[in-house]
Amino acid sequence: MNNPFVTNGYAGEHYFCDRVDETHRLIDLLTNGNNVALISPRRLGKTDLIRHCFAQPQVKENYYTFLIDIYATSSVQDFVNALGRSVIDALRPFGKKVLQHFLDVVSSLRSDVTFDVFGQPSLGVSIGSIDRPETSLEEIFRFLEDADRPCLVAIDEFQQIDTYGGNSNVEALLRTHIQRCQNANFVFAGSQRHLMDKMFTSPSRPFYQSVTLMNLRPLLLDVYCDFAVGLFAEEGKTLQPEVARVVYQDFNGVTAYMQRLMNVLFMRTPQGEVCSIDMIASAIDYTLDMASDTYEALLRQMPEKQRNVFVAIAAEGEVANVTSGSFARKYHLASASSVNSAVKGLLAKDFITQGKNGYQAYDKLFALWVKRYMNIR
Ligand SMILES: Nc1ncnc2c1ncn2[C@@H]1O[C@H](COP(=O)(O)OP(=O)(O)O)[C@@H](O)[C@H]1O
Ligand SMILES: [Mg+2]
Repeated sequence: MNNPFVTNGYAGEHYFCDRVDETHRLIDLLTNGNNVALISPRRLGKTDLIRHCFAQPQVKENYYTFLIDIYATSSVQDFVNALGRSVIDALRPFGKKVLQHFLDVVSSLRSDVTFDVFGQPSLGVSIGSIDRPETSLEEIFRFLEDADRPCLVAIDEFQQIDTYGGNSNVEALLRTHIQRCQNANFVFAGSQRHLMDKMFTSPSRPFYQSVTLMNLRPLLLDVYCDFAVGLFAEEGKTLQPEVARVVYQDFNGVTAYMQRLMNVLFMRTPQGEVCSIDMIASAIDYTLDMASDTYEALLRQMPEKQRNVFVAIAAEGEVANVTSGSFARKYHLASASSVNSAVKGLLAKDFITQGKNGYQAYDKLFALWVKRYMNIR
């Protein structure tokens, strides 16, 4: 590992900061028959927490664990495909017998399964190839029920099922299967708080009161500082604790952004030397340059009204009253009602967040980039 500040995904215990209590709680809940909804804004560490829990010996050695990301799915077919694929991938290390068992039980998917030169199966990704998703779903659940170990299933970006079109009520269907299944417990992770809340706390929704809600909070400032200082020290580098503090404050403790900055700061600190506060500004410049294409694409994908409001909020820093006349004039925004609906859309997607003194961009790097590259002062 040449840089201990990991910026994409879980790299093991050693590179993972804290979450000791959360790990215990989540494992205790899941291994005692509960289903959990894990909720937080984006990039705080939900997915990695799940990976971390699944990597613990008492889980790894006794359970089959499946992590399914449904962010890119838009129908029940996609969902079943993602689920089937992740089950096959997760079972592969356990050998032929259990894989064969899966293929026997899930006969409706068999024509979609291909084998590589080593005889290893995988599920095709062709869209629309799953013609009887309800049947396939039922079979997958039958497999989970009959598996020779208990199963833990994490469905990541769960709020996405709210966007599936058609009249397929996948939510109700899933709820029924999950309720019946004795041999598996589930964690539903999601970022879009209002969607997740609605799914689990509205009496009219199938998942009402069927899960334990768990809100993931930012890592604690001191804990993250110690973690960062320690990782520098291991490589013979010195991190002044104030650096980690400033980074934490600049990025409101959002794990992914802090890790990005610390990764760059680590890279730019030669062995035997000290990383001090005056290095932060140029590390941010470097990070903005690296992310330029991503930010451009994100802006392009926003509906125009949302883009205008987002740029205005990012430029302003923090906006107490988004519908004020002066704000609208300064940034040439349309009517208050259209600003309001844009704000709702931006909040829903976590592009902006409500801070102590008003709305602000969630990704501080994105906000800085907007200011700099769109030449706004
Ligand atoms: N406890 C942690 N220690 C160190 N890095 C973490 C931790 N949790 C998350 N990360 C980093 O933050 C990034 C975002 O975490 P992720 O789990 O993808 O967030 P979420 O699923 O909530 O959007 C990860 O890619 C990883 O680099
Ligand atoms: Mg995630």
